[in-house]
Amino acid sequence: MRVTVADVQKMKQNGERIAMITAYDCSSALIAERAGVPVLLVGDSLGMVMLGHSTTLPVTLDDMERHAAAVMRVSQKALVVADLPFLSYATIEDAVSSARRLMQSSGVQAVKLEGGKSITPQIRRLVDCGVPVMGHLGLTPQSQHQIGLRVQARRAEEARQLIEDALAVEAAGAFALVLEVVPAPLAAAVSERVSIPVIGIGAGAGCDGQVQVWHDLLGLFECRPPRHAKRFADIGAAMEQAVRAYADDVHSGSFPTDAQSSTMNPDELAAALASLDHKDH
Ligand code: KIV
Repeated sequence: MRVTVADVQKMKQNGERIAMITAYDCSSALIAERAGVPVLLVGDSLGMVMLGHSTTLPVTLDDMERHAAAVMRVSQKALVVADLPFLSYATIEDAVSSARRLMQSSGVQAVKLEGGKSITPQIRRLVDCGVPVMGHLGLTPQSQHQIGLRVQARRAEEARQLIEDALAVEAAGAFALVLEVVPAPLAAAVSERVSIPVIGIGAGAGCDGQVQVWHDLLGLFECRPPRHAKRFADIGAAMEQAVRAYADDVHSGSFPTDAQSSTMNPDELAAALASLDHKDH
């Protein structure tokens, strides 16, 4: 049975911390599910980690649909949430049309939208249409040119605004909220004030759950991961070592061996070559 929005909300009520991780394709989805992660996020961070862009802004609905569909083809247990990409929910009509496309083409159960009070009309309409919505406040990367890539809401006025935004997103019907790169005590205060689960990334241990980006957690990039990321393994180095060993074996001729090759009856090959020779004369 697949995890539902109600299950995730029950986890908060029961004081059970929620693990969420990004997944962008079938291998990440399969591994995350096997590891027992209850919520997968097809994040628009795929623009950077899968498509090589420097921000999430170039990510299109087509990109999101392709990756979300790959995750959904293999996923069986987790609640799968997908990001609506940059400017695909600027109006209520856009939000409905984008959510319809993403959910119908991929089968994801919920969508995530970045923003506070200003996008509550879109959240409310989607929820009225039966679409579970996850909010996203704090460092919202789709607005990075406006707000910068830095810790958000450190000052009293911004912190008050963030709490008001969280309450507004909850009141609009969102089932959960991501809080990205905000001071830990503020994130804890938000988590206490809203009844929906707050999933933090760079927001401290006082949130109801945590989300991490697949590539940061597994060390798939050589560059220094962001401060909020914890590298739980260095899979990138292990992969590089394996690929180097493969290339070395090709160069030396020690790969492939008979174990990776198939045979045929020598008479069949001789007959084929003879008939070619015959044709040539
Ligand atoms: O796109 C993404 O991966 C996200 C997480 C960082 C929350 O939105």
